[in-house]
Amino acid sequence: MKFTDEALKYLNLGISGEIAAYVFYKKAAAILKDKALQDSVLSIAGEEKKHFLALEDVYDQNVRSEMWAPYKDILNKPGLPDIDELVQDTHKELLARIAKLSSKRDVLEMGLTLEKEAVALYGDASAKASHPEVKKVFDFLIGIETGHVRMFEKELSAL
Ligand SMILES: [Fe+2]
Ligand SMILES: [Fe+2]
Repeated sequence: MKFTDEALKYLNLGISGEIAAYVFYKKAAAILKDKALQDSVLSIAGEEKKHFLALEDVYDQNVRSEMWAPYKDILNKPGLPDIDELVQDTHKELLARIAKLSSKRDVLEMGLTLEKEAVALYGDASAKASHPEVKKVFDFLIGIETGHVRMFEKELSAL
C-alpha cells in the first residue's frame, strides 16, 4: 500500500530527529564526566541509530529515494560511527546548540527537550497514521522515547 504524503512527512521528520538525537548523544558523552552517565547516553545513541535505520527502512520501502543513503551507509556500520561531516549543513542549529553546552545540567536539559520533542512528534504521527505498519513503528518509538524522557527527568531531579 502506498503511504500518504502525511505519513512520509512524519517518517522524514522522525529520521531527521533520530539523526539529531544520535549526534547529540555522541557529543553529550564527550562533555559528561560521569562515567555511568556517559555509558547511558552512549547506549541511547545506539538506540537512536536503530530508530534511524528502522524509519529509513519503512521510508525506503515506499519511496525510491537516495535522500538518506549517505547516512544509511555509515549508520549501518557497527558501533557508533561518526556522521559529523554529513550533518554540518542539515543540522546547523543543533550543532550550534550543542557547542554552547558546558554543565551536566545543560546536557541533561537538552536531552530532555529533544526526547520530549520526539515523543510529541511520534504522538502526532501515530494519531494521523492510517497505515497499520507505519502506526506500529511510531507507537513503538513513543514507548522508547518516553523511557528516555524518564531517564533525563530522573537524572535532573538527582542534581
Ligand atoms: Fe529515537
Ligand atoms: Fe530518544
